[in-house]
Amino acid sequence: MIIAFANNKGGVGKTTSAVHLAACLQLTGPTLLLDGDDTRNATAWSQKGDGFPFKVASIEQAAKLSRNYEHTIIDTGQRPSEDELKALMEGCDLLIIPAVPAGLDNDGLSLTINTLRKMKNDAFRVLLTKVPPPPEPQGRELRAALLAEGVPLFSVDIPRLNIFDKAVEAGTTVNKLIVPKKDAPRAARAWGAYQTVAKEVLSHGK
Ligand SMILES: Nc1ncnc2c1ncn2[C@@H]1O[C@H](COP(=O)(O)OP(=O)(O)O)[C@@H](O)[C@H]1O
Ligand SMILES: [Mg+2]
Repeated sequence: MIIAFANNKGGVGKTTSAVHLAACLQLTGPTLLLDGDDTRNATAWSQKGDGFPFKVASIEQAAKLSRNYEHTIIDTGQRPSEDELKALMEGCDLLIIPAVPAGLDNDGLSLTINTLRKMKNDAFRVLLTKVPPPPEPQGRELRAALLAEGVPLFSVDIPRLNIFDKAVEAGTTVNKLIVPKKDAPRAARAWGAYQTVAKEVLSHGK
């Protein structure tokens, strides 16, 4: 499958989600992560530790590499133009829009969704990321607002957890991060959320 991540806003967890989804999909087949962001955050992350279990490469290398991989994941930078979003949509099986619960109007999310809807292509899905723990209502509220508009969503949210920053610092993913015993449940929750996303991604392809 070919899966792309995009949103008009930065800092919403595109790279974090692309890397963790790649780690999950690698467990089912050879996976390639194409770093399509000029800042090369995913590439830098992959070079900090012992290396990722999946291949990380630049978009320029895609043509030659992609035939050897069962799954290709594309990470992108900020503010894709309408044309870029359209090209990305046509070039993948599923476009994932990570979004932090900050309201529909103030984070570029509605702009991205409206652009996608104009294309009359329903192969996209919103992933709520950095969702604060209950009883904080933001995640629930954004989910309800999107569902009311008929926007497709993953069934699971990615919780807001510091462990994701720690994984970046260590150059690894949350499932491989060595954590103190007290943090183990958080690491398991973080990884479990992406595993559920991966399952839903794979079932989308069927
Ligand atoms: N679920 C999460 N909980 C807490 N922090 C997160 C989470 N996902 C991402 N982050 C952090 O937020 C920042 C931005 O994430 P990143 O994936 O780089 O966003 P983008 O690629 O959309 O710019 C990073 O410091 C990252 O570690
Ligand atoms: Mg990024």
